[in-house]
Amino acid sequence: MEIKVFENAEEIAVAAANLYKELLTEKPDAVLGLATGATPVPTYQKLIKMYENGEISFKDVTTFNLDEYCDLDKNDKNSYYTFMHENLFNSVDIKEENVNFLDGNAADYDAESKRYAEAIKAAGGVDLQLLGIGTNGHIAFNEPADEFTDEAFRVTLTQSTINSNQKYFGDVPMPRYAMTMGIGSIMRSKKILLIATGASKADAIKKLASGEVTPQIPCSILNNHADTIVMVDKAAAELL
Ligand code: F6R
Repeated sequence: MEIKVFENAEEIAVAAANLYKELLTEKPDAVLGLATGATPVPTYQKLIKMYENGEISFKDVTTFNLDEYCDLDKNDKNSYYTFMHENLFNSVDIKEENVNFLDGNAADYDAESKRYAEAIKAAGGVDLQLLGIGTNGHIAFNEPADEFTDEAFRVTLTQSTINSNQKYFGDVPMPRYAMTMGIGSIMRSKKILLIATGASKADAIKKLASGEVTPQIPCSILNNHADTIVMVDKAAAELL
C-alpha cells in the first residue's frame, strides 16, 4: 500500500483522473468499481472534462458501484443510482446496460449478493476500485465489526455514518440500512485507489497507515492488498 500526500483535493482529482486515463487508454473496456460521497466528485468532474476533450471514452466501460441505500426508490434524489447519474454517467458515453448497482430494495438480500458477485465475475473482475473512507474507517458501508465480511450484504448503518450523511437528506430521516459490497469483494479488485480529503479523515488515515489490520478499522485490510494507492490531501495527512 502506497500513501501519496497532495496539496489539496484538486491535485488529487488530477492525479486520480490521470490513473483512469492510463487504464482506459490501455484497456478501453475496463471494469470500474465506483464510489459515491463528496470525495470522488472532483475526480468525476475531471473525468467528464477528459471525456469532453476526447481524451477518454466510457463506451465500452462497465461499472459496479459499491453500495446503495435500502428502503429508498432507485430514482430518489438521494439514491446512489441518482448520484452517479448526476455526477458522472449522464455526462459521459457510458451505456446504461453496463452500469451496475446493488438493489437496496431486493426481496432476497442473499440472492442479490450472489447476483452481484456473479455479475462482477462475469465481467472479468474489477480492474480499478475507487474508495472513499468514513471518519470511522469504513470502506463502502463496511462498518467497524468483529470480523471482515466477504460478499455483498445488508448492513445496519452506524450512528457515525448517519451523522456524516444525514446532511444530504435535509429534514427527511435518512435510511438506516444499505446494501454494500463486502470486504472480500473489494479486496478481489485488481487495483484499488482510496482517496481522502479534509481533517475529518485524518484519524482514519492515521489508523490505516499504522499497518495494524483489524475489522474494527475496516479500511485497515487494504494493508493486505497487493496494489493499493492511497491519495490524501495535507489535511487528511495531518496526523501521519
Ligand atoms: C460511498 C461509500 C462510502 C464513502 C465514505 C466517505 O459509496 O462507499 O464509504 O466513500 O462514507 O464519504 P465522503 O466522501 O462523503 O466523505
